[in-house]
Amino acid sequence: MRSKGVFLLMLLGALTAYYVYSPIPNNIEERWKLMLTDSFFRSLSHLADLSEQVGLLDYMRVMMFITFAERVVPISDDRVRVADDNFDGVEVVVYQPTQQGETEELRRAIIYLHGGGWCLGSSRMGPYDLLARHMVTELSAVIVSVEYRLAPAYHFPVPFEDVYRVVKYFLHADVLKSYHINPERIAVSGDSAGGNLAAAVAQQLQQDPDQHIQLKAQALIYPVLQALDLNTPSYQQNQHMPILPRTLMVRFWSEYFTSDKSFFRSMMTNTHNNPESAALLKFVNWSSYLPDAYRQAYNYSAPPVFTGKTPVRSIGPHHQLSDPRASPLLVPDTTLRLLPKAYVLTCEYDVLRDDGMMYVTRLRNAGVDVTHEHYPSGFHGALMFTVWPTDFEIGHRMLDNYVTWLKLNL
Ligand SMILES: *[C@@H]1O[C@H](CO)[C@@H](O)[C@H](O)[C@H]1NC(C)=O
Ligand SMILES: *[C@@H]1O[C@H](CO)[C@@H](O)[C@H](O)[C@H]1NC(C)=O
Repeated sequence: MRSKGVFLLMLLGALTAYYVYSPIPNNIEERWKLMLTDSFFRSLSHLADLSEQVGLLDYMRVMMFITFAERVVPISDDRVRVADDNFDGVEVVVYQPTQQGETEELRRAIIYLHGGGWCLGSSRMGPYDLLARHMVTELSAVIVSVEYRLAPAYHFPVPFEDVYRVVKYFLHADVLKSYHINPERIAVSGDSAGGNLAAAVAQQLQQDPDQHIQLKAQALIYPVLQALDLNTPSYQQNQHMPILPRTLMVRFWSEYFTSDKSFFRSMMTNTHNNPESAALLKFVNWSSYLPDAYRQAYNYSAPPVFTGKTPVRSIGPHHQLSDPRASPLLVPDTTLRLLPKAYVLTCEYDVLRDDGMMYVTRLRNAGVDVTHEHYPSGFHGALMFTVWPTDFEIGHRMLDNYVTWLKLNL
């Protein structure tokens, strides 16, 4: 029923011929399907814009429709036991194998953080529910899917802090014991904004002197990793690419920090840096951290620095822009060196490609063991497109490779 509803909505969007055509590169597989899927997202985005302009509902409130349309009630079945829980005040959904043999070896665990630009999404969306179930059965793992609070109702650092509280609560010997988990086989993972939270959590845990149990691995799926330079070659190349055009990513970033629209506008023109954040631009310098092939066609120029004083630059986002809990790329190598081994998935047709690529370079320079899987025909969000009618071959391949990595490394 749910899929049919989504399908009808897609069709409705698709009927508006104007929306259907989008310039999708030839080497992307199943182009017609991606165009159709994208036309739904773009129609909704235009509707959301319109709604905000006439003062009906804010943009993100309308976009939340996607989250509601895909909502499911996670239920137990004969292989997976699912329970809603609350870890230190934060909602989580815990998935574990139904078999409860006491003699069985201790399990692995993955703390999973969903995507959606810190503004959308839920662990109770069909694709995330399915992913969690798949990981339980393939890895005999316990999955903790975190229902962190979202912007714009809860700006940074609330979403990060929610996640961090869950992780700190979970990484206690007695809690792990109650789930029959091996404390040496725990990973954090997430996609897109969830990849951002996962990378940030991994960094903060390593620096936490009271933290005894540490993560074994971090798996970052097309992660967002920095807010300082929103004109990297991948932002330029893919500014109109489905399903995450540059405007939407910039909107997510600005809403994460503040609902002040002037901040959004300065981020759009890449003129949002202040003297404090400008001092950190060296950590996101794509002319040093991108492989040759990705920067050759582009000329580097550092984003300009705004030195004037306006309220939005001198209060909230001013400092938050430099905060590594929002932009994990902004830490020095000495911090990176301590990190657990990493898996980083990047897609060619993704504004966030270069965030991931730069993190791979920086982690490797710091001596961290990194597996980098780049999909030359990949697009943002593909791993979640594994359910009819928006199922893509490439999504299935990504899923298989990601789970295989976890199998071998966790
Ligand atoms: C970025 O790197 C290039 C050379 O790789 C250098 O010329 C430039 O000054 C750097 N800019 C910043 C802001 O670090
Ligand atoms: C980069 O700079 C060179 C030399 O100034 C110029 O010929 C080229 O067109 C520039 N490329 C881009 C993409 O702006």
